[in-house]
Amino acid sequence: MCGIAGYVGQRQAESLLLVALERLKYRGYDSAGMAINDDGDLHVRKAAGRLRQLEEILGARSLAGTTGIAHTRWATHGPPTEDNAHPHSDTAERLAVVHNGIIENHEDLRRELADRGAVFASQTDTEVIAHLVAELYIDTGDPLAAVRAAIRRLEGSYAFAIIFADHPGRIIVAREGSPLLLGRGRGEHLIASDVPALLPHAHEVCQLQDGWIADVRAERVDICDGDGTPVEGCFARIEVAIDDVSRGDFASFMEKEIAEQPEVLQRLLDSRLVDGRLVTPEIAVDLARINHVVFLACGTSWHAALLGKRFLEGLARIHVEVDISSEYRYRNPVASGDTLVVAISQSGETADTLAGVRLARSKFMPVASLVNVVGSTMARESDGVLPLLAGPEIGVASTKAYTAQVLALYLFALQLAQAKGRLDQATRTRLIDACCALPELTARTLDNCREAVEEATELFSAANASVFLGRCGEYPTALEGALKLKEIAYVHATGYAAGEFKHGPIALVTDALPVISLCPRDQMFEKMLSNVEETRARDGRIITVGPDDERRLHDLSDVVFPVPAANEEMLQPLVSILPLQLYALLVAQRRGCDVDQPRNLAKSVTVE
Ligand code: G6P
Repeated sequence: MCGIAGYVGQRQAESLLLVALERLKYRGYDSAGMAINDDGDLHVRKAAGRLRQLEEILGARSLAGTTGIAHTRWATHGPPTEDNAHPHSDTAERLAVVHNGIIENHEDLRRELADRGAVFASQTDTEVIAHLVAELYIDTGDPLAAVRAAIRRLEGSYAFAIIFADHPGRIIVAREGSPLLLGRGRGEHLIASDVPALLPHAHEVCQLQDGWIADVRAERVDICDGDGTPVEGCFARIEVAIDDVSRGDFASFMEKEIAEQPEVLQRLLDSRLVDGRLVTPEIAVDLARINHVVFLACGTSWHAALLGKRFLEGLARIHVEVDISSEYRYRNPVASGDTLVVAISQSGETADTLAGVRLARSKFMPVASLVNVVGSTMARESDGVLPLLAGPEIGVASTKAYTAQVLALYLFALQLAQAKGRLDQATRTRLIDACCALPELTARTLDNCREAVEEATELFSAANASVFLGRCGEYPTALEGALKLKEIAYVHATGYAAGEFKHGPIALVTDALPVISLCPRDQMFEKMLSNVEETRARDGRIITVGPDDERRLHDLSDVVFPVPAANEEMLQPLVSILPLQLYALLVAQRRGCDVDQPRNLAKSVTVE
């Protein structure tokens, strides 16, 4: 949700910042801009639209200078026009600012600043930061003191970076509630909203903490808190490799990430199993005393949480609630001593889930977070972390992080069941063996289902609506399959518990509506077949996901997406989701959609 980047060093900043924006564009991509300090002169270039518009402008009028900031925007206040694109400047154009977050009291500040003569050029909340800091800079003559005084007036969440015409070679950054990283290279520093944008020049990274302000120069970084008291930032080696953030030979990051899933599951298993024994990470909580688990998540992560509930209830016999984070945070949840809150988030930065974590902790409930980005704010603020190890996920629609979440939740359920003495040796061995079969099973599924998915794309890519049906463990799969199609192909899709189909959505069935039914050979198989029959009786078009050798499926369906059976029924959703991810991808491609940058979305939702 908006990406910010910055560079100060010996190299020309422009090309380096463009690479950083390219790596951040999954966070927002409706407009972009850059400001560079060229020996005391500030130059700004901005463009509405995709990053290539900015590249074209820079191609025609490039920017020289070795200190700069840049931004890729996901609009909150004001439409995605050139005027509203960041960086924003003060009236005298002596400073430029890029910002991620929302300044909630921007209207009051705008009025106040305009009364004192500030001339606003945009409709954004961000611009108040530029005018406010500029006023305070005139008073103090000190950029750091001006930023410190300004943030006392700001309400809301922010990570921002400012360059001053008078101070070439310096970037001042501040953070409250939105992520911001400092990267250290050789005689140079970078700033960015996320690690991939620091590569390849930075080799160490430091996560700026809430309330901190940093004065970033080529050779050093000085960090202080809001009172000006120096604080020590902790720099750690960057583990992400450049290949992890490149598309390679794939047409999109989403396609690459779908293909990576067998390898991701293998990596997760390798990290959690030693000689066939479960070694799930320490989470500083006595699991034997936990009798109640609350999952908090948004979007795809929430679908993983629905499966987590089945795993924990089924294996550990623990009562589980699943909450959408944006709902949980505004309830007054009942806290009890035997409750564990588990936040599930790919990014570890989603504003609503983070707020849920803070609420739970304020009620003295222990919190574990299941995150992909281990250096994230959520991970830092939790009592324990269960890392997903999926590698950077760049495609806006989550795929590999979802399957990693589901497997990690299954392993967590096994750990809980073990801690509570509810798992005998033979069962544990059987279940772990079933997990170990998943990398091969998922690789086989991806290979074998492609042809059928292509056939279905041919038949149904023009359909403007779809229904996904599943029961029990496949109900979350139906929700997730529908979400994927909505997100990237802009097809209205609804996921439904198949048993509920006849209580309303069946009215939608016509010979133009594809109904995608999840029919693996499990205890619900016959009931699912009845649902498929009901669709067929009303002339609906049918895709089924199930065993290829089941004649009845082929007789009833326009297309069968073949999936093999997982060795344990509970793990089947990890296999069934794969053709649905691929289907959304191919339909989106056929409809000419930009798969990695779907309209209106952003990957990391750091505002409410
Ligand atoms: C956004 C993304 C989704 C993601 C959701 C939650 O909406 O587009 O793909 O599932 O945020 O993100 P999180 O990082 O908390 O899992």
